[in-house]
Amino acid sequence: MDLFEDQARDIFEAHGVPVLQGLIADTPQEAEAAAAKIGGTVVVKAQVKVGGRGKAGGVKLAHNPEEAKAAAEAILGLDIKGHVVKRVMIAQGAAIDKEYYFSVLLDRSNRTFLSLCSVEGGMEIEQLAEERPDALAKIAVDAVHGIDLAKALEIAKAGGFDDEIAAKVAPVFVKLYDVFVKEDATLVEVNPLVLTKSGEIVALDGKVTLDDNAEFRHSRQEMERDQLDPLEAKAKAADLNYVKLDGEVGIIGNGAGLVMSTLDVVAYAGERHGGVRPANFLDIGGGASAEVMAAGLDVILGDSQVKSVFVNVFGGITACDAVANGIVGALAKLGASATKPLVVRLDGNNVEEGRRILADANHPLVTVVATMDEAADKAAELANR
Ligand SMILES: Nc1ncnc2c1ncn2[C@@H]1O[C@H](COP(=O)(O)OP(=O)(O)OP(=O)(O)O)[C@@H](O)[C@H]1O
Ligand SMILES: [Mg+2]
Repeated sequence: MDLFEDQARDIFEAHGVPVLQGLIADTPQEAEAAAAKIGGTVVVKAQVKVGGRGKAGGVKLAHNPEEAKAAAEAILGLDIKGHVVKRVMIAQGAAIDKEYYFSVLLDRSNRTFLSLCSVEGGMEIEQLAEERPDALAKIAVDAVHGIDLAKALEIAKAGGFDDEIAAKVAPVFVKLYDVFVKEDATLVEVNPLVLTKSGEIVALDGKVTLDDNAEFRHSRQEMERDQLDPLEAKAKAADLNYVKLDGEVGIIGNGAGLVMSTLDVVAYAGERHGGVRPANFLDIGGGASAEVMAAGLDVILGDSQVKSVFVNVFGGITACDAVANGIVGALAKLGASATKPLVVRLDGNNVEEGRRILADANHPLVTVVATMDEAADKAAELANR
């Protein structure tokens, strides 16, 4: 899960990373009140999970509460790369002397942690990495030893800091590493980490990605602020990998790759049938039991845009007969709430037995089709009726 900046700020604060005051506001009036509470110059910042907010007009300086209100008026509702701003953070203004960059992340390809650091922060790090790769230090961090003060100094030196500033930023790197480990993050990034005119080091912006696999160790429910689509919420509760799309052909498959290619063939077939398109991505994974199949069908049939459903399963570890029993069981379980035609294509392990089970069940909604292309065509045709 990616965190909003204000959530990252709060986590930083809890771990002793130096941050400035920050208050969230959902309306211009709240922004005005927050600015009055903080006092002095503030920065009004769009809270969206996408980079480059500053350039898009999502970060504005305000010298008094009235200006903060006007800035919030301009920022709230702004569309930043497809993310509409619903909330702003009013941050205490910093008198910036220098802007630095620091991050620590999980480096999957090298099976280690990695710290990136540069004395040249503020600008987009991708740009720095491309234009001046020498200015961006990449230091591997051993997960057992982590970042202690000595390691932090090594990172700072590699990032181009002189001794005096390295001594100031290193303890902050240690705290940021603490955030990374204790919060089970896969990314902690601060850009910019600043040196203020009065000589203090402060994290002015934070990007944190938490490892969802470690959710059981934390209570993060209240952090889930993204408005999930109701169908996506239902799928999430059933532990299904589901993404709602805009079309009419519901799709269920096992394995992300198969489901992706199913979306392609349905989109292609749809061109011959009135331009119908896939209604969703849904991967029920390897063990397609009747319960999982029923939960998946239930989610898809709950989508009022769906006109037909294409079940595309390749029997591997879970053989086709088990999948066929899953489909029959799911339809029995759903009863009258299953109302849309199902096109089923089975292949792989025990395919003959699977097809026989579906033929014997002879469910009025189910059509069994031999190949993926023909099944996509049939599903598109049924959706276009
Ligand atoms: N509290 C603050 N006080 C003074 N200046 C700030 C403050 N917060 C941000 N800034 C200035 O605004 C710039 C952009 O802010 P920030 O890094 O938060 O957003 P961004 O980099 O545009 O967005 P993103 O990180 O999403 O790409 C900073 O580099 C800094 O110069
Ligand atoms: Mg930034």
